[in-house]
Amino acid sequence: MADMTGPDELLTEVLARYDAGDNERLKFVMQAAIRHLHDFVREVELTREEWMAGIQFLTATGQICSDTRQEFILMSDTLGVSTLVEMLTYSPTEGTTENTVLGPFYAPGSPDRAKGESMLDDEDAGDKVVVRGRITDPDGNPLAGVVLDCWQSNTDGFYQVQEIDGQSDFNLRGIYHTDDNGEYEIRTVRPGKYPIPHDGPVGALLKANNRGWMRPGHLHTWVKHPGYKELITHIFDRKSDHLYDDAVFGVRESLIVDFAEDDQGELSATFDFVLDPA
Ligand code: BEZ
Ligand code: FE
Repeated sequence: MADMTGPDELLTEVLARYDAGDNERLKFVMQAAIRHLHDFVREVELTREEWMAGIQFLTATGQICSDTRQEFILMSDTLGVSTLVEMLTYSPTEGTTENTVLGPFYAPGSPDRAKGESMLDDEDAGDKVVVRGRITDPDGNPLAGVVLDCWQSNTDGFYQVQEIDGQSDFNLRGIYHTDDNGEYEIRTVRPGKYPIPHDGPVGALLKANNRGWMRPGHLHTWVKHPGYKELITHIFDRKSDHLYDDAVFGVRESLIVDFAEDDQGELSATFDFVLDPA
């Protein structure tokens, strides 16, 4: 055993204990994590009390998790780590549509909706809007039969799956398909801005840092088509608050649309998707 006279020797010894692993990727990730963690503790000169506060924070984060709540992902979201992983793993080819975070409010099993149908099943006092556009390959060729699984918050900022304000089963959820020209059309309501769950340890940490917990209004889409990478993204409303202080760092300039009155007197926005070949 090495003589652990100080932090450098300790780090060398800890890293060496991971040398024997036969999963090369796991060994690489663990040794990098340990190096960064030791560097961090040394940089901030972490005290024993601060170490304990960190342990208690992580404990509380685990304890509040349930079948319907994932506080660790929320922590990752608010640290920008979820967005970083999305950036690195999806990595859209130049000219194709950017992706962003999935978020906790997706549920499979939404109903099919016809082109132009409204996915607003309940009363809602907000602006009724239309989102339409084309889905193409990178050369501009239209893609027919693309699956566009959509979900969004209502004007009050609640998703149906949160089961908070008694929305009917599939309100503001729907699966659209492109027609033979690669065109889709969604009728809905302007999506409301909303707070991410902030009644737990992640919220307390945001508060302690004078950070906000709001997200700007957006329509989520999960786009699927054989031969193309699955695209999970949002379409943001330029008029919404919090475009520039999104609590989870999900906004991309290329995903922001402007709603304006069209020649049929409807508030509409155009958003064209360009799918990235798999
Ligand atoms: C969402 O957009 O639904 C979301 C994303 C991350 C955290 C909370 C909500
Ligand atoms: Fe959302």
